Amino acid sequence: MLAGKTILLGVSGGIAAYKSVELVRLLKKEGADVYVIMTEHATKFVTPLTFESLSGNPVFTDVVGEYKKYPVEHIVLSEKADLMVVAPATANVIAKFANGIADDYLSTTNLALTCPRLICPAMNHNMYAHPATQANLKRLDSYDNYQLMEPKEGRLATGIVGKGRMPEAIEIFNEIKYLLSPKDMLGKTVLITAGPTREHYDPIRFLSNPSTGKMGYAIARKAAERGARVILVSGPVSIELPPKVKVVSVNTAIEMREAAIKYFDETDIFIGTAAVADYRPKNRAAEKIKKGADTLILDLEKNPDIIAELGQNKDQRIVVGFAAETNNGFSYALEKIKKKNLDFIVLNDVAQKGAGFGVDTNIVKFVFPDGTHEEFPLMLKEDVATKILDQIMKL
Ligand SMILES: Cc1cc2nc3c(=O)[nH]c(=O)nc-3n(C[C@H](O)[C@H](O)[C@H](O)COP(=O)(O)O)c2cc1C
Repeated sequence: MLAGKTILLGVSGGIAAYKSVELVRLLKKEGADVYVIMTEHATKFVTPLTFESLSGNPVFTDVVGEYKKYPVEHIVLSEKADLMVVAPATANVIAKFANGIADDYLSTTNLALTCPRLICPAMNHNMYAHPATQANLKRLDSYDNYQLMEPKEGRLATGIVGKGRMPEAIEIFNEIKYLLSPKDMLGKTVLITAGPTREHYDPIRFLSNPSTGKMGYAIARKAAERGARVILVSGPVSIELPPKVKVVSVNTAIEMREAAIKYFDETDIFIGTAAVADYRPKNRAAEKIKKGADTLILDLEKNPDIIAELGQNKDQRIVVGFAAETNNGFSYALEKIKKKNLDFIVLNDVAQKGAGFGVDTNIVKFVFPDGTHEEFPLMLKEDVATKILDQIMKL
């Protein structure tokens, strides 16, 4: 997603500088071209060699020294940049940025930039709370193209608990992806169901399936990056929550239906990725069923068909379903689209290697109501998510 993007990473002299090493790794993995600019004090915390090796680019520290890549390189770099992230941003750097001081590489480049900056303050809680720091942050916030990331409450380097911790590298990375994504879904509300449901037959046992929620969570993450308001109704899963997404946790199909119906009115786009159990035990024992007889017969009754119900009431909304099939997928999908009044179905043949439950990849086909389809090769679920949202935006 960051391929072709040039990101400047400003590192100043705070203890959290070590976290920025991981940030470079994450940015490079996503395809960004990363240039690190360090203040002189920052080089006392982490060596430029570490950043140089990870970024694959020279590290810039001395604005009037010998140039490393281009003449007047702070200007060339600032023209190339799509975003500058400053992590950690010391109280000193924040004060300099707020007041237009340009006395080293980082602060000089900052003045020459026209792209967005993401500033991640990190410092001792008293330094952060100081009225001068607060006034400087307020001033920065009032300038165009400055996005501030609030520090966290937590244990600081000295062992004291207070506000001033820099967010983790992954959180800063997610914010960068958000800032650099085109916001073509701004103003849209997307409702997504994800994960499995659990249908209990006694207090501690249930019927379920191996869905991990990865596909639905990937769509939620991508839609939020594109500016949509996202509500994710999730069955029990153990994966990382996507940022900027409202998560509503449920257990059973009945609870999932209630939550989906509650938010459907305010929804423009509904995407049902959840692996909802078709049946639930008719009776739920109040106490644990003891091991006794050789066979145990459970009576099952049909669960509500959430997507069919929403599809029938969709009006102007777009409703997209998923079908995980092992045989005859295409004809089932076509039948489902018509019966449930869907705009299209994402069909995955879970019998294929690399598709379906638990894995990070999927092999999907979009099936449309008129019987046409579009086929995709093996792709990361994140990329499948992008294709689904692109298709929805086309509709
Ligand atoms: C061990 C140590 C840790 C420090 N951590 C921070 C910090 O987290 N945030 C901060 O604003 N200053 C911190 N300082 C103070 C800065 O290094 C100092 O204000 C310095 O002038 C900042 O220079 P720079 O902004 O040019 O990097 C720390 C100093 C030391 C010695």
